[in-house]
Amino acid sequence: MSVYICPVCKAPLLRVGNTMKCASNHSYDIAAKGYVNLLGSGKSSRGDDGDMVSARRRFLSAGHYSPLCAALCDMIGKTQYETLLDAGCGEGYYTKRICEISENKQIYGLDISKKAAEKSSSLCKSAHICVASAYDMPYADDSFDVIVNVFSPLALDEYKRVLKPDGHLVMAVPLPEHLKELKQAVYDSVYTKEMKDTALDGFILKESKSVGFVIKLDNATLKDLFMMTPYYHKTGEADKKKLDDIEKLSVTASFVIFDYIKGL
Ligand SMILES: C[S@@+](CC[C@H](N)C(=O)[O-])C[C@H]1O[C@@H](n2cnc3c(N)ncnc32)[C@H](O)[C@@H]1O
Ligand SMILES: [Zn+2]
Repeated sequence: MSVYICPVCKAPLLRVGNTMKCASNHSYDIAAKGYVNLLGSGKSSRGDDGDMVSARRRFLSAGHYSPLCAALCDMIGKTQYETLLDAGCGEGYYTKRICEISENKQIYGLDISKKAAEKSSSLCKSAHICVASAYDMPYADDSFDVIVNVFSPLALDEYKRVLKPDGHLVMAVPLPEHLKELKQAVYDSVYTKEMKDTALDGFILKESKSVGFVIKLDNATLKDLFMMTPYYHKTGEADKKKLDDIEKLSVTASFVIFDYIKGL
């Protein structure tokens, strides 16, 4: 049974050949790579562009964040689930590993970037990937046992709608010292943001686990990492050029993984 709903009329979508169709005949093609675009007409596909998605693929596939991926999968493995959504799945690095630990489960991925959906659906053949906004998700109410969020926009109202009662939100968040050496290399002054309050409206925090490690990066990989960050588009050319002079850098990676349960 599909959990997809039509982005126009919100009726269930059923697969008919290589399309998804609702009873009102709104129809969405399934791309050759396997994903379906349910962004809805008139909505522009923002999110990560092709260069950012490619940088993320090069960086993640080299295994630099594998301790984070392992800790995330451990946290997911403690939950009971049949259906799981990776919301803001990007190029699919974490989604792929989640599929590998989730035999006979239904794994979904959603990203607003078409380039990300192309890459993640090629990588994770068994996952159901769509292009859509996390703030207007094409899924029926109470569809998922678990939602995973790794550094993606936090659409709490939609998460609450599509999560089943007692469903889990497993979320990875960077800690203040994350990438501090990279920031010090680029900016003249770096201020460390305090960790935000961990309370989430409508969710109860069940467990959290910190993950920290140091990654040794060459120049090309350092630039890929910088391109993956939210700072990249906000940084001037002069500051970006400072990375040209760095042959190698050891960088702190520091995260916390939260397991929240949907409250009443
Ligand atoms: C920092 S990346 C993280 C990607 C992936 N989770 C990872 O860690 O490799 C954030 C992702 O969220 C996507 N994104 C941004 N705004 C979104 C939205 N409104 N709805 C769904 N995805 C969105 C971007 O396209 C990007 O792929
Ligand atoms: Zn429809």
